[in-house]
Amino acid sequence: MITRAVVAGLGTYVPEAVLTNQDLEKIVETSDEWIVTRTGIRERHIAGNDETTSSMATEASRRALRDAKITAEDLDFIVCATNTPDTIFPSTAARVQHQLTEKPIPGFDLQAGCTGLIYGMETASALIKSGKYRNILVIGADKLTSITDYEDRTTAVLFGDAAGAFVLQANDNTEFGILSSYLQADGRGGDLLIQPGGGSLMPASKESVETRQHYLKMNGNETFRFAVKALPEAVEEGLKRAGLEVGDMDLLVPHQANLRIIDAAVRRFELSPERVVINIDRYGNTSVATIPLALQEARMEGRLHDGDVVVLCAFGAGLTWGSNVIRWGR
Ligand code: COA
Repeated sequence: MITRAVVAGLGTYVPEAVLTNQDLEKIVETSDEWIVTRTGIRERHIAGNDETTSSMATEASRRALRDAKITAEDLDFIVCATNTPDTIFPSTAARVQHQLTEKPIPGFDLQAGCTGLIYGMETASALIKSGKYRNILVIGADKLTSITDYEDRTTAVLFGDAAGAFVLQANDNTEFGILSSYLQADGRGGDLLIQPGGGSLMPASKESVETRQHYLKMNGNETFRFAVKALPEAVEEGLKRAGLEVGDMDLLVPHQANLRIIDAAVRRFELSPERVVINIDRYGNTSVATIPLALQEARMEGRLHDGDVVVLCAFGAGLTWGSNVIRWGR
């Protein structure tokens, strides 16, 4: 008997407020034309002061639970991928549990840069395959604007806030669900994308605040070079582990960090536009939330059919990269 983790529900949450490229022109020295041609981003949504990673995650989770037609009390586990937890501890997973239900549910936060969602899906899939858990909530939520430096034009234009959540469910004897995953991490590139301050290496101090060490720092060029290689590798390796090839892939759902990175993969795999999901123009890089957001959009547009081979792939701080290969359907 093969037990697989199938996607039983998907929910997303995007904050209401929109920050356009024209708005950014008033904040940093940039232009709509530069941002669009270099990144493909036109606008992004930003969370209000009263919104946190856990509040966005909770709303996305409620929607995913409704979609799966189960309640929070049915959950056996919560895996929350985030790089901007409400607090370093307690975990965002515990905060979400508390906001969803009075029933205790085991859970933890998982931090693997923008690849965290991919790591979360594989972790939950393995927990389900162990036979010990049947309903797992996998969340990808980030309020990246809380660590974005709006005095640094090289990063300020890239990021937005959002959350997404999957209900993964054990299904015995099914052709559907997560077929394989490929995960990687290589700390040699750790400094390319980093929030230097606030951890044990550099605890908060007057100096760390004054020198803006609590904001995200990125070497854009080097990160770009890494991403252009990592994304196709993740797709190919994930498919290989499922015994499939690029030609078998019906839909690619790539992390939305830069349109040019996605375009490079599209060219390399010679994908027609119907076989890739792109929505970076309206959300920017929402970190671990880009994939659920893109997948949900594809679903709403009727682009997902039972039996389709769907590949989720991402890269990010760590450096990390990876993919999940899913046969769509429940
Ligand atoms: N507006 C206008 N000019 C800008 C700018 C902005 N927002 N940001 C940078 N520039 C300038 C630079 O200062 C530089 O000027 P110079 O030539 O006078 O020195 C010029 O534009 C080119 O900068 P460069 O960094 O080479 O641009 P780029 O084409 O590499 O694009 C990124 C920059 C950040 C968009 C791109 O490198 C990128 O997307 N990297 C990957 C990021 C990523 O994926 N991160 C997330 C991982 S999860």
